[in-house]
Amino acid sequence: MSGELYRLFYPRSIAVVGASRDPNKIGHILLRNIVSGGFKGKVYPVNPSTDTILGLEAFPSVSSINSEIDVVIVAVPAEKTIEVAEDAGKAGAEFLVVISSGFREVGRIDLEKKLVEVARKHGMRVLGPNIFGYLYAPSGLNATFGPREIKPGRIAFITQSGALGIALMGYSTVEEIGVSSVVSVGNKADIDDADLLEFFGDDPNTSTIILYIEGVEDGKKFLDIASTVSVRKPIIAIKAGRTDVGAKAAASHTGSLSGGPALWEGVLKQAGILQVKDVETAFDYARLFETYSVAAGPSILVITNGGGAGVQATDTLAENGVLLSEPPEEYVNYLRTFLPPYASTRNPVDITGGAPDEHYYLALRKALEIPGIHAVLVLYCQTMTTSPLKTGEAIVRAVEESGSNKPIVAGFIGGSEARKAIDYLIQRHIPAYPTPERAAQALAALYRYARLREAVKRRLDLLRLSGEIHSKIPGELRREILKK
Ligand code: COA
Repeated sequence: MSGELYRLFYPRSIAVVGASRDPNKIGHILLRNIVSGGFKGKVYPVNPSTDTILGLEAFPSVSSINSEIDVVIVAVPAEKTIEVAEDAGKAGAEFLVVISSGFREVGRIDLEKKLVEVARKHGMRVLGPNIFGYLYAPSGLNATFGPREIKPGRIAFITQSGALGIALMGYSTVEEIGVSSVVSVGNKADIDDADLLEFFGDDPNTSTIILYIEGVEDGKKFLDIASTVSVRKPIIAIKAGRTDVGAKAAASHTGSLSGGPALWEGVLKQAGILQVKDVETAFDYARLFETYSVAAGPSILVITNGGGAGVQATDTLAENGVLLSEPPEEYVNYLRTFLPPYASTRNPVDITGGAPDEHYYLALRKALEIPGIHAVLVLYCQTMTTSPLKTGEAIVRAVEESGSNKPIVAGFIGGSEARKAIDYLIQRHIPAYPTPERAAQALAALYRYARLREAVKRRLDLLRLSGEIHSKIPGELRREILKK
């Protein structure tokens, strides 16, 4: 477990400075989320104007608590944060999580520098400022002023945009995507994406990392650490500022260096990071990586009841560098034993519009048995003669009976019944999507990731050979790379 940020994510005690009595104020909501989120450690509200908040004893300052404090959440106006930092430092706190806005993003660079200076003087690390907080499900810790309920899972989400992060907490719940952590990084005055990547790279509770990133200060550190993490678990990046005009907007949002779009594309690729254009795709990929992380081989079979859906999937796969090959003869011969003569036994296999769920079962079951087929994309277009849910059940039956761990992705296109079938499949760990393009793109991500990871491994091997591992890779990762 990566040491430097350990106590930020596993705090024994938290003080909330600016824990307001007003239930609508940010400091109050933060305290309420921490208390009601199931956090097992000690929680101390800090507010000089009252004795109790939410039934907890309140203290006039952090230093007056007279007990060890690991994390201090700061929710007072920016100009008061320096005095709070001094006091927290004297009290021996390890981390300052500064929610307050009003620093670099509005031109007050000196105030931000001063905040970090004071924190460093006392040996504290700073998350923020200008953030909505952070959440870490394994500790039952929701120190955000975002939604209270989230679905615990294995995706860590690091975001430079606060509002987007809060919205995504809601989105992930609606879409039933489980998260291990959500971290708002804001102005990244001290703790940055690379530090967090290092933590989540080592975190056994996290299997996939999503980044929403506008820019970084230290590109080399980011590249080095991301490279060592991406060979172990997938990192997906929504890079804001993909166009020149977007890059300018990103630069003025948080004031960090955003770099040109072409430069970023190269950096992310070199770091083994899957770049995506939008939030929807990031979560589509994350859903896939929740179940699969390795592509066993290049031969993908597409089974569909609609020719158009098959063509759309073929195009999307090809655009993502995955080409379909003809199915093995053994498979084609088998299909001919039950499919109507007008069905297509080429790839995509078109089992025809009226195909009953039994045909999905037979076609998939056999595909999972044949060694020359490495992954299957099952597409279903809702028709009046077939039932989406029954088709979903047939898919699950084929997978469970075969005991196969080949990647299987489903695309179910239709109305509310198709949506129900998608939910059914997802609950049974089969990634499922509402369009053929999204399903194909998600499956292709497995191959994109495999290619990126291989390239990064080769680059790291070369670096190792030439002894050029960058000196800024801290702690365990650096040791791990050097000893290999
Ligand atoms: N120590 C402890 N508590 C203090 C304090 C101090 N030094 N000074 C003031 N307080 C108390 C206040 O009395 C108040 O409590 P009360 O309501 O019970 O009287 C509470 O702390 C909050 O202070 P207040 O001055 O009312 O601030 P606020 O709640 O209006 O705003 C912020 C504080 C941090 C929320 C605000 O300055 C801010 O930055 N908002 C933007 C946050 C944001 O959007 N972040 C980025 C998200 S992506």
